[in-house]
Amino acid sequence: MRLIPISAATDPLLEVRDLQVRIPTRRGDLLAVDGVDLTVGAGEIVGVVGESGSGKTLTAYAIMGLLSAPAVISRGVIRFRGQDLQALAAEERGRMRGSAMSMVFQEPLTALNPVFPVGTQIRDVIRRHTNLSDRSIRGRILELLDHVGIAGPERVAAAYPFELSGGMRQRILIAMAIACGPSLVIADEPTTALDTTIQAQILELLRRLVRDDGISLLLISHDFGIVADLCQRVYVMYAGQVVEHATAGQLFDRPRHPYTSALLGCMPAARDGDAPLDTIEGTVPTVIDPKALCRFADRCGYAQARCTEQSPPRQTFGVVQDALCFRAAELTLPGLVTPSLTDGVLP
Ligand SMILES: Nc1ncnc2c1ncn2[C@@H]1O[C@H](COP(=O)(O)OP(=O)(O)OP(=O)(O)O)[C@@H](O)[C@H]1O
Ligand SMILES: [Mg+2]
Repeated sequence: MRLIPISAATDPLLEVRDLQVRIPTRRGDLLAVDGVDLTVGAGEIVGVVGESGSGKTLTAYAIMGLLSAPAVISRGVIRFRGQDLQALAAEERGRMRGSAMSMVFQEPLTALNPVFPVGTQIRDVIRRHTNLSDRSIRGRILELLDHVGIAGPERVAAAYPFELSGGMRQRILIAMAIACGPSLVIADEPTTALDTTIQAQILELLRRLVRDDGISLLLISHDFGIVADLCQRVYVMYAGQVVEHATAGQLFDRPRHPYTSALLGCMPAARDGDAPLDTIEGTVPTVIDPKALCRFADRCGYAQARCTEQSPPRQTFGVVQDALCFRAAELTLPGLVTPSLTDGVLP
């Protein structure tokens, strides 16, 4: 029997089942997302991690109803507060997007319109979803900017995106995402373009929004460190599939999928003294006409003959953890090896 994660047992806020996103190409249909199961409970921060091209953004776009042709949802169900989103009319879906659920996009500069002041862009979002008077909207914009940690909100509201730093632009995007009180925010690589100090500030802001404003967060990142720091549960994606799902602690202590373990080996914190960081040889495959095999097999140090002959089973461990690997139960894979404080590696 497949055990259901605790958060999923009590009606999750977001429930994605067997999601498939298909992109027709001249070479055949690309299955950019293939059979993804994912839940986000109320008040939870859930992470999605994986290398570039693993299907993270397309999964988010599918949930938000933002896929654009030729990409289509070819299978699966997406429920938000129990409601089947694909059954909604486009108009209803549009109303929901930006109010009940919203997204912080991967590219802050392209997500903002360069020719309008940022205050105007926040105003447009609020106008689209509420009947507030212009005066109340003005007040709400300043309140929002203050809420996302922007000093001098009047001045910043009048600024154009190019006049603001990367960190400020990301705060503006977050302000736009929370402007209409969403219960779910999907943040796609919200800190990738930022330096470490600003990155930490933005992550702290997201954490505060979840804690104080009752928002649930689906956080997408290729950086395990960020996901580990913020998320309760994590989905590890590879070539369009979730290859492992577990709590952050479980992933670090006892990863069950060789890909998770390999990703952990690439984290700076995994470095033992001056030893170089691991890298995973090869690239994420593009899956056209999927064969019955493990998609990671050709990069996997633990692969056996069966891994290229059959699709691996999903094996479960305890209440939350599962991994899509033949050898998940038998292998003891390296997790995150943090240098000990006593061996002189750390200051
Ligand atoms: N419009 C499109 N046409 C063709 N292929 C696409 C299209 N959009 C995405 N893809 C492909 O789908 C796969 C998944 O893309 P996606 O953007 O979801 O990856 P990602 O995990 O978000 O990567 P990154 O970390 O680089 O943002 C990739 O192989 C990508 O090249
Ligand atoms: Mg992406």
